[in-house]
Amino acid sequence: MRERCRVEETIYNMQQTGPENLQVISDFDMTLTRFAYKGKRVPTTHNILDNRLLIDENCTKKIKKLLNTYYPIEIDARLSTEEKLPLMVEWWTKVHKLLMEQKIRKDLLAQAVRESPSKLREGYKMFFDHLAEQNVPLLIFSAGIGDVLEEVIRQNHVFHPNVNIISNYMDFDHTGVLQAFKGQLIHTFNKREGALAHAAHLTELKGRQNVLLLGDSLGDLTMADGVSNVQNTLTIGFLNDQVEERKELFLNSFDIVLVKDETLEIPNFYCTVMHKTAYLETHGMETLF
Ligand code: TMP
Ligand code: MG
Repeated sequence: MRERCRVEETIYNMQQTGPENLQVISDFDMTLTRFAYKGKRVPTTHNILDNRLLIDENCTKKIKKLLNTYYPIEIDARLSTEEKLPLMVEWWTKVHKLLMEQKIRKDLLAQAVRESPSKLREGYKMFFDHLAEQNVPLLIFSAGIGDVLEEVIRQNHVFHPNVNIISNYMDFDHTGVLQAFKGQLIHTFNKREGALAHAAHLTELKGRQNVLLLGDSLGDLTMADGVSNVQNTLTIGFLNDQVEERKELFLNSFDIVLVKDETLEIPNFYCTVMHKTAYLETHGMETLF
């Protein structure tokens, strides 16, 4: 934390108005899902499609090559968002075009997710269940693939009614074959436009002036830009990769930075104290983090 006092004050203020005034906005890939497991990278929603059921070997090779070219750019601390933006559009556009050529079948997506080593962060069940129990809306805002994302949370039994998703959704033809992607493309650095176009209209979020925001990219910080009348925002950033190079940048941008933390322990802790005033009184603010 760069400003511990500000964090404590924000949490205190949020606590005063309770879970009825809270909304959670979270990124998905590498924020709600793990970055790595047992030394291996965990697939993002795009990479879950890397299954012979859905795409051929040649397409896999091309998508991997694009990942190796553009992912280092996405996380490069020396480049500005403006410099990255057109390159991200290029990456997503190329990958989506390749996917559309593959005639991906909707009815095979669930099996591909089941067969993938996809993994939500440790503590995910408590995170999703707790927010649902407290009727706190959870908006998942992802530049990944919405259909795959839904299947991941469904198969983990946490696709509760309080969950809304904004993402890139596949458009299937009448035979169930991928023909296009719906709506405006969402990539890592245009979430602000998505927020203004979609999140601002979600009625369940109206009147909830406290926002907990979770992300793993500086682009994720704009996910709450569609929320009107925000009183308090607490942002938590997962710093998964290029840690030393990006630490300063993250500390200057997120209220709390979690370094190589594969769990949702801190967000869970926050959600717990949000409705348990007694917890703070007993333990004192110092023991919070
Ligand atoms: P997110 O908004 O849910 O984090 O999803 C975006 C992530 O997806 C971003 O960090 C890069 C990643 N990605 C891939 O892993 N493979 C791809 O082919 C593309 C286009 C993005
Ligand atoms: Mg992410």
